[in-house]
Amino acid sequence: MNYEDFKNRNMNQKVLKIIFGVIGSILILKFFYRLVLTVFQYVFMSEKNLKERYGTNTWVMVTGPSGGIGKQLALKFAKRGFNICLVGNKKCTQVQSDIKKLNNNVQTHWIEADFSNENAYDHIETWAIDNGTQWAILINNVGYRVGGLKYEELSWKEMRKSINVGTIPQSRLIQFMIKHSVKTKNTDHHRAIINITALCQTHTDLFNLNPILSLPYLATYEASNAYGFYHSESVRKELKDRFTKIDYLTITPGAVLTENTKKIMNPPLAVESGKYAENIIKLLGNKNGVSSAYWGHSLISSVVNVVPFISSYMLKKVSKTLATNLSALQKSSKFIVIAPVEAQKLLEKDFKPFGL
Ligand SMILES: NC(=O)c1ccc[n+]([C@@H]2O[C@H](COP(=O)([O-])OP(=O)(O)OC[C@H]3O[C@@H](n4cnc5c(N)ncnc54)[C@H](OP(=O)(O)O)[C@@H]3O)[C@@H](O)[C@H]2O)c1
Repeated sequence: MNYEDFKNRNMNQKVLKIIFGVIGSILILKFFYRLVLTVFQYVFMSEKNLKERYGTNTWVMVTGPSGGIGKQLALKFAKRGFNICLVGNKKCTQVQSDIKKLNNNVQTHWIEADFSNENAYDHIETWAIDNGTQWAILINNVGYRVGGLKYEELSWKEMRKSINVGTIPQSRLIQFMIKHSVKTKNTDHHRAIINITALCQTHTDLFNLNPILSLPYLATYEASNAYGFYHSESVRKELKDRFTKIDYLTITPGAVLTENTKKIMNPPLAVESGKYAENIIKLLGNKNGVSSAYWGHSLISSVVNVVPFISSYMLKKVSKTLATNLSALQKSSKFIVIAPVEAQKLLEKDFKPFGL
């Protein structure tokens, strides 16, 4: 090797070192930036004064509040002195009495709605027109799970229900909120829109190449949640340029344990719905946009970023249990959480798709 070759090789090595050094530094900076934001959110963030921010004697509307995260949010806001408008099935009357026991000073209103059809929207809009100036917060929570191990054997009726319940309420109710509440000029207070969607994406800046998180065996439910996620973010980006006083959250839960979900799953890093509701409330006025609202669910995204091969194995295992139990739940009102292998045996023996 002559002197020129030697010089060129050294030069190439230096250039490569600089390129890798810059890429490495960017990744480390990104990692620490995200870490600092995460630590701030889960350790140091404190709840805003919600009455000051959203006004007194104001209303929170929640869809699907007869159980789960929706019910917990209704109770937590009532405890903080907000009037609650419950939009859902007959079980909401029980939630109304629970609210009264918790805080007798707040008002409640129930709009009966079965979101599998479109009958309730006129009633909801009438309420919005009558109460728009005092309507401070909209929570799009309602969702309906359908699943099974054989897609082609699922009931179309159930699938359509999942699509209707998981997509249309959020699409229409945000319109009502903007038209009848956000656009009313006679208030200095903020408004808030909270859309509960699902964890649909993971980080890809370390070893993970595929950002998509999706569960097999639950296609229409998964897709409805993904609709909620992208719809929510699209509307948020439009509204932030048009209105200054909107707090807007796109919540992306992983596993949250509710009366319903406890019967069908118990994966690692799950959180109780009461705790989860508190976490969502803490974000109001502190953060806008996408948040998983629980450190365990944020961690999932980071773990998948470091060890990507774990995600498809884990997700498949979790969703198989979930879908199998959903099917079994349909077959029997007496229900226990069963291990995936046992559940699969049960189905192989006597499989009836969920919803038929
Ligand atoms: N929990 C989780 O692990 C998880 C994970 C990712 C995303 N999410 C999303 O978070 C939201 C809340 O989930 P969750 O786990 O709290 O659900 P949940 O426990 O199943 O509660 C859903 C609520 O919606 C109501 N509902 C269902 N279909 C309805 C219909 N056709 N009309 C009116 N109300 C209806 C249910 O009523 P009844 O129960 O009284 O029938 C219930 O009150 C959903 O959008 C879900 O997709 C949850």
